[in-house]
Amino acid sequence: MNHVYDPGREVSAPEVPGIGDRAGPRTEGHVDGRQGRRPGGNGDHPLHEGFDDVDLERVSRRPGAKWALADGGIAAWIADMDFPPCPPVLSRLREIIEVGDLGYPNWLGRTPLRAAFSRRMAERHGWAADAAPVREVTDLIQGVQLILHLATAPGDAVALHVPAYPPFLSSITASGRRLVPLPLHRDPTCGWALDPAATDDAVTRAGARVLILVNPHNPTGRVFTRAELESVAETARRHDLLVISDEIHADLGYTPHGHIPFASISPDAARRTVTLTSASKAFNLAGLRCAVMHVGDPDLLRKRDALPSDLFGAPSFLGVEAALAAWTPEGDAWLVTLVEHLGCNRRRVAEMAATWPGVDLAAPDGTYLAWLDVRGTGLGQWAGKAFAEGGVRLSPGEDFGPGGEGFVRLNFATSAGILDEALRRMDAVLRGTAA
Ligand SMILES: Cc1ncc(COP(=O)(O)O)c(C=O)c1O
Repeated sequence: MNHVYDPGREVSAPEVPGIGDRAGPRTEGHVDGRQGRRPGGNGDHPLHEGFDDVDLERVSRRPGAKWALADGGIAAWIADMDFPPCPPVLSRLREIIEVGDLGYPNWLGRTPLRAAFSRRMAERHGWAADAAPVREVTDLIQGVQLILHLATAPGDAVALHVPAYPPFLSSITASGRRLVPLPLHRDPTCGWALDPAATDDAVTRAGARVLILVNPHNPTGRVFTRAELESVAETARRHDLLVISDEIHADLGYTPHGHIPFASISPDAARRTVTLTSASKAFNLAGLRCAVMHVGDPDLLRKRDALPSDLFGAPSFLGVEAALAAWTPEGDAWLVTLVEHLGCNRRRVAEMAATWPGVDLAAPDGTYLAWLDVRGTGLGQWAGKAFAEGGVRLSPGEDFGPGGEGFVRLNFATSAGILDEALRRMDAVLRGTAA
């Protein structure tokens, strides 16, 4: 299955610390897009220009998978946002189109994105990531697949926290590797917790060679703390695991949930980690197909670099240029307002979910995804279908593997108005009043 169009891709938390704020320092040149306020049950919410002016009529005519495959309902499933690209990306792409040169780029096999990634990791996260071990890939999942081919053999075991972003599940099994599911469990203090003892046990029994870490985590929205990452690093050291760390949602953390690159945890973690990321989630550029892969393990790096580079394909010119434009102070200023806006939506979802009998939500620490447990509602495995019939397309939990049954994932990266309408429709379904 083409993972881009995969349906999977694609409560009691009235007061969660940090809701509505952004992680990290406020960037200079912050665009204050507040336009007004909308009422909310738990205090009111500011409106944000460029985010709250997305209109249902217009957005529902979009040709991309998210809206085109929403069957006439509100599209709150696949992890794309409803907002236009940020100003620096738009102006760079317009400039390129207007100049009219869509021929071969002149970067001769080594794009400027490698240095931009290295700079960004140092400036935002204090991780001194060398640019030399960086390669571009078209998307994260291609990077995972390449590394599994290089570092493991058919039949090898690959550990992954579940529930999981569906293409990880299919990518592991499609390459003939064995999935070792590591269940996250609901925890009243942190939302969703890792279980180091169970991980140790599962990894030992399966003889796993690789652990795929997704942080921030999709679908739960957990942003793992330093202590949790240190415990993962300790497990990896004890079992000599290669860690593939997907950090694609790193820029979407809500205060106080700052992102910590796994490779920055310790010198040992740095040597056993492949970091995969891109600008595509935070800056909404998934269709431009461009991501980066940083390999910390010197042996794996030699193996990777011994391969003909054609095997990796080449990133799209527009994808590289868009990422370069996004990873700038202007892009980060937009990101400040984006995260502020998403924080308001997150609060709105948590407030509403808290009123729904039988529904449990741990508000996400990061991402624009709400992982709703609807097992107590009686909708059971039909929840996704029931909400779709009620006019909101969500991602059904079953797609996310073990532990996903009885859950739905709501994508709240839209305007306040569209979100309110989606929540109203969900409310009607849950209260049995849907038309
Ligand atoms: C955690 C995570 N990893 C990877 C991806 C997909 O990235 P790509 O389109 O670059 O394969 C997504 C998309 O939603 C995601 O949420």
